[in-house]
Amino acid sequence: MTIFDLLINDHRSVNSILNQIAKTTVAHLFKREALFIRLQEEFTRHAISEEKVVYAPLKRKKKNEFKEDDEEHRLVESLFIQISRLCPSDSVWTTKMALLTKMIRSHVEEEETSLFKKLSTNLAFDELDQMSRDFEFLKKETAVPMDSRSSSLRTFFGS
Ligand SMILES: [Fe+2]
Ligand SMILES: [Fe+2]
Repeated sequence: MTIFDLLINDHRSVNSILNQIAKTTVAHLFKREALFIRLQEEFTRHAISEEKVVYAPLKRKKKNEFKEDDEEHRLVESLFIQISRLCPSDSVWTTKMALLTKMIRSHVEEEETSLFKKLSTNLAFDELDQMSRDFEFLKKETAVPMDSRSSSLRTFFGS
């Protein structure tokens, strides 16, 4: 698979979790929270690998053009932490989740247009090929810190 396919697959899988969360109500709190944890894991593993394997080589070639992409990952992460500290039945949870959904979707859209264009214009075929192998490897190796695991699941698992 090309680096484009790998990134798109991850984006689709994150989007599918966002859709599933949007269908939950306060009657499905445990499901809502479990889906949120899956979303945080998937997004974080993707973002860490993306920064190391995709953004870094582009940054070396096009200095300062990727500040914004890193910054967007930081904003999403900070929202994940804020949401994970709230109860999923809280209306603030729903409001922040809607904001997170919007941010992720807009970031993904930007990547699939602007980032993909930068990759294909600035990197040679063999560099893109190596990138896809590094991305797959790093994603498998990346452990997501779960210290921000939300409160009710922490209580449920007794940790
Ligand atoms: Fe990203
Ligand atoms: Fe991405």
